[in-house]
Amino acid sequence: FLGDYLIKTAGTLNNEREREKCLMCGIIGYIGDRDCVPILLDGLKKLEYRGYDSAGIAVMDGGTIAVRKKNGRLSELEKYVVQYPINGSAGIGHTRWATHGEPSDENAHPHTSMAGDIAVVHNGIIENHARLRAWLTAQGVAFTSQTDTEVLAHLIHHHYEGDLIKAVEKALTRVEGSYALAVMSAREPGEIIVARKDSPLVVGQGDGEQFIASDIPALLAHTRDVYFLNDRELARVTREGVEIYDEYGMTVARALFHVDWDMASAEKGGYAHFMLKEIHEEPTALRETLRPRIGANGRVDFTEIGLDDETLRNSGRIIIVACGTAYHAGLAAKYAFERTLGIPVEADIASEFRYRDPIVNPGDLIILISQSGETADTLAALRLGRSKGARILAITNVVGSTISREADAVFYTWAGPEIAVASTKAYTTQLMALSLLLIAIGRARGTLSDDRCDALLGELGQMESLAEQVLKSEPKLAHFAHLHSSIEHAYYLGRNLDYAVALEGSLKLKEISYIHSEAFPAGELKHGPIALIERGTLVVALCTQPALYEKIASNIREVRARGARVLIIARADARELIELSDEWVELPEADPLLMPMLSVIPAQLLAYYCSVERGIDVDKPRNLAKSVTVE
Ligand code: M6R
Repeated sequence: FLGDYLIKTAGTLNNEREREKCLMCGIIGYIGDRDCVPILLDGLKKLEYRGYDSAGIAVMDGGTIAVRKKNGRLSELEKYVVQYPINGSAGIGHTRWATHGEPSDENAHPHTSMAGDIAVVHNGIIENHARLRAWLTAQGVAFTSQTDTEVLAHLIHHHYEGDLIKAVEKALTRVEGSYALAVMSAREPGEIIVARKDSPLVVGQGDGEQFIASDIPALLAHTRDVYFLNDRELARVTREGVEIYDEYGMTVARALFHVDWDMASAEKGGYAHFMLKEIHEEPTALRETLRPRIGANGRVDFTEIGLDDETLRNSGRIIIVACGTAYHAGLAAKYAFERTLGIPVEADIASEFRYRDPIVNPGDLIILISQSGETADTLAALRLGRSKGARILAITNVVGSTISREADAVFYTWAGPEIAVASTKAYTTQLMALSLLLIAIGRARGTLSDDRCDALLGELGQMESLAEQVLKSEPKLAHFAHLHSSIEHAYYLGRNLDYAVALEGSLKLKEISYIHSEAFPAGELKHGPIALIERGTLVVALCTQPALYEKIASNIREVRARGARVLIIARADARELIELSDEWVELPEADPLLMPMLSVIPAQLLAYYCSVERGIDVDKPRNLAKSVTVE
């Protein structure tokens, strides 16, 4: 798509900055009787993980719309609002994540019509914005930013004939791309119009006041009753309530969804960073993900998920598709499934899967893994798989997310809100979900005996306390990071399931410490990567698969012989391996199939402490956003 986009726009856009688009972003809105400014700013703080290049708010101030927007972190906007105060009881806000060109005050949202009487915040991409911009310019519109979003403000203004929702509806018929929108008009100060397609948006209901946000945690301080909007729906949000309409203007009846998360779980709870808090939540998250899946007979029960034994027994191929960390969980599952179930299992990266014309047959089972349930490539893979007749199982952490709503069956990981950009507890709970799935498929297909299933389930029941034990390695890893965080390169080695975890450990390190890091299947070393090893190079070796201890021992000797410093993360029975290390983390013994849930924790802690040592904003590393809702 990016290629297409650049080709399409190259003729009409003059420079790199003109390709500025808002990709991720967080949206907030309020209408009620209170001063909306602190509510909007507080909501933006909760959404900052979605993007933090610039931020802005628009407030109905008397009979006009007042806008404050600023390049940089949200704190810049907060200072600006103190300097130039505004207030009102209805407003919208935005925190932005840009890709092409520099973020700037002009490109920050909200964007307004020329007269300043319509204000828009937007998350998504207007793909045909160049054409619309050219057309609007011919109508006499003068643009003030390089964003795609600004066309929406002018287009809505163009179609306005006294009814804002009709104007938004008409404008959207001309728009190609994805959007979650909140729109205000000075001419209709008692309402905010919202709309969505392929980008998340929820409306929270209060008492005589309503809230709008890109996700639920941003609303939790005010309400637990929310409406989810479906693709192409619009809503008129007033103090009194919410009216939802489909794309043809027909009223839609939508039930309220009650959120029963604990608010405290969305806060830092005394930890220095969300990431550390979330690592420490892994034992509980593992338990909470396991518990609902155990039936009255003590066995794995998938009936609530919508997966019957028939599907588990007779599905064709199993294809696991996801991005980033979720893909690494899927890769670990591929190894575990193939080893246990004796059937071929594919694991693919969603952005590759969707463009490689994959072989998918009716009856195949596609397992999509996504913490957010909103990742654009994963969602596209879902739709592609569905069009080819596959049955779709989603493993996701976000109730009501787009992926959860479009899948045939949903396995929720009960990790609670994950705020840090670096995914931790979502990964371990995805592994828990996949392990339960392995047991269910193994039993349904007869490839796992009842005794083996019961033994594995018993071990899953132990994961909470075993993960607690692993967390005791924290001081050792903090010290190790203190000594070694100035390194420039790190290499993670593993074989089979350990290789999948090596990939995840390496991703964690690079995304939050900015240390260049790569993961290799240990046996591949001598086919090239070993040339990178020199005196002092850091190597992290994962050793949790007893059948491969001897093999990985040889690889560790090879890198040590070339001067590498080796940190080994190993099961306790790998004593001889541990003796080859400069430092080691001993893991409690569990079934080798389940070891990734434990071995990843020291890798997460190592990345966390390296990031802290290097003075990096751990929870909001540069260039990244938590939820990648466009490709
Ligand atoms: O929400 P998802 O699980 O679909 O997100 C997928 C990736 O974007 C995500 O795992 C990303 O790789 C994380 N930043 C890794 O820590």
